[in-house]
Amino acid sequence: MERKKIKELLSSHKTGKEVFVKGWVRTKRGSKNIVFIALNDGSTINNIQIVADASVFKEDLLRDITTGACLAVTGTLIESVGQGQNVEIKANSIELYGKCDAETYPLQKKGHSMEFLREIAHLRPRTNTFGAVLRIRHAMAFAIHKYFNDKGFFYLHTPIITGSDAEGAGEMFHVTTLDLTNIPLNEDKTVKFTEDFFGKPTNLTVSGQLEGELGALALGEIYTFGPTFRAENSNTPRHLAEFWMIEPEMAFYDLRDNMDLAEDFLKYLIRYALENCREDLEFLDKMIQKGLIDRLNFVLGNEFIRMTYSEAVDILIKADRKWEYPIAWGKDLQAEHERYLVEEHFRKPVILTDYPKAIKAFYMKQNDDGKTVRAMDVLFPGIGEIIGGSQREEDYERLLGRIKELNLPEKDLWWYLETRKFGTAPHSGFGLGFERLIVFITGMSNIRDVIPFPRTPKNAEF
Ligand code: 4AD
Ligand code: MG
Repeated sequence: MERKKIKELLSSHKTGKEVFVKGWVRTKRGSKNIVFIALNDGSTINNIQIVADASVFKEDLLRDITTGACLAVTGTLIESVGQGQNVEIKANSIELYGKCDAETYPLQKKGHSMEFLREIAHLRPRTNTFGAVLRIRHAMAFAIHKYFNDKGFFYLHTPIITGSDAEGAGEMFHVTTLDLTNIPLNEDKTVKFTEDFFGKPTNLTVSGQLEGELGALALGEIYTFGPTFRAENSNTPRHLAEFWMIEPEMAFYDLRDNMDLAEDFLKYLIRYALENCREDLEFLDKMIQKGLIDRLNFVLGNEFIRMTYSEAVDILIKADRKWEYPIAWGKDLQAEHERYLVEEHFRKPVILTDYPKAIKAFYMKQNDDGKTVRAMDVLFPGIGEIIGGSQREEDYERLLGRIKELNLPEKDLWWYLETRKFGTAPHSGFGLGFERLIVFITGMSNIRDVIPFPRTPKNAEF
């Protein structure tokens, strides 16, 4: 018989039929005569109830059916008389795939702390919370591809191993096959990278943007969606050393087009979650963050505020507030400033533009004022920066000038510079941090709890 997913059975009205399910036991209760098993197979947050007549099954089988055990059950789908479900399965046969030792299984009771669950990341997907988060994460990944595909954007696979630092921030993980206990050296004591695997220094990518631009300047509109790596020693609820980023890049878009796309894209994803992940969101709204669904609807129903960095700094200076990091024009905004703007001042998402060039990456289009660049950051409640992007400098001389000013390795970027020589075009793009999006959509409070296996400083277990 064909196995059915629990999600499908729970919405089925075909009672009286023989069905076959597999899954893990969430709870077992009952009496000497009858046993009720809540079974979950991950297809939905809801369990299906298995009713087993104790006289039909061997005693030791029933004894071995404990929380966490894995079962295959055939039985008759019947209308449920109990509360909380429409249908249940009256078991005819039960096969025990895997016992689960009640003494040592760490997921016995509800209410474990998130910190504890992080230590058992191999098992936490079996909890309601992580099941919900991971299903939503999947739905968002799917919706991202759908959104761009429907708009005629092409998915471009940019390299994971690169020889350049896209952000120029030097926060890179080296990739090498050199023997670290016996590093070959040049005469001047520098590392002899000619002996390394690629014959030159390489690193894990911090962003697919530079290669994304090459794609946009040929295919028109592209996006990347892949893992990115940052060796920044940030131990915060918003930073991972390995995170996923979505980076659309569009020829012929100016900064306004870029902002319009970012806002439309974020709203599409929120709407998609509300329409397709209802049960999981309702669970998270109840158990993780009260008011979550209202908050998502609120963001959907309101236009994002758009203003320049300079205007925002004025607001922050006038704010009656003692900042941990004092604010002045030219300084980068800290999380406390960003969150003040979105959570207290405007109480809405905000897009800030035209940042000082000194605090932004080399590739951003320079404004005529000589001080600012066509940057944009999208700031979200509870998150701070969720998107960073810009219009790109398409002028060869200006771009080269900036690369030189910042002492960036011009020779590693020759291919990037050539696009500005051969048919350059105005273009723009941005990067959405996938995990920050998932934090926002799920209401989880730590970014480590929205990726299956988080990588953070001093932590690469699993
Ligand atoms: O602002 P960032 O550094 O921008 C770029 O990398 C550009 N190349 C994007 C582009 O224009 N194509 O990063 C973009 C986004 C941030 O807004 C944030 O959401 C996320 O990536 N992000 C992180 N997420 C988790 N952990 C980290 N350490 C992150 N660093 C950035
Ligand atoms: Mg940024």
